[in-house]
Amino acid sequence: MQTPQVVAELSRLFCLEVDAVQAYATAVGVLGPGPIRDELALFGLEHQRHALALQEQIVRRGHHTPDVEPDVKGVVIGALSAPQRRLTIEDVLAGMRGNEQLTGSLYAKALAKKLPDDVREVLARIHIEEQHHLDWIERTISRRSWESSGAAYP
Ligand SMILES: [Fe+2]
Repeated sequence: MQTPQVVAELSRLFCLEVDAVQAYATAVGVLGPGPIRDELALFGLEHQRHALALQEQIVRRGHHTPDVEPDVKGVVIGALSAPQRRLTIEDVLAGMRGNEQLTGSLYAKALAKKLPDDVREVLARIHIEEQHHLDWIERTISRRSWESSGAAYP
């Protein structure tokens, strides 16, 4: 893959990560305090780290990160953006599950391409963390662990 294609691929993933940071901030903002909110806040920080790692790869190749629209919307935060009623914790987790499924599939698609070794290494590392996010969210939804935690969730 030529450098412009690599940079384009990195830039797409960078925008996705910025959207994800925004989505987690939204999720954390609607949840009450407790272990689920703490975990989602941590995932948001990991997405920030991912964005920085992608940025480093882009800059290393002599390019700049794309401008990401401040009013990020669309698939990533769609599930959280226009509710007619108050969101429940299950709504929030289901929205984040959709985001993580999308994120994971886009990393898998990128990793299926021919990439420079350093880029591959970064994307593979991020992909593992993304899989952890999705696993944790799916586990939490299937166990409905908020019902027994006693935390103040909506
Ligand atoms: Fe994630």
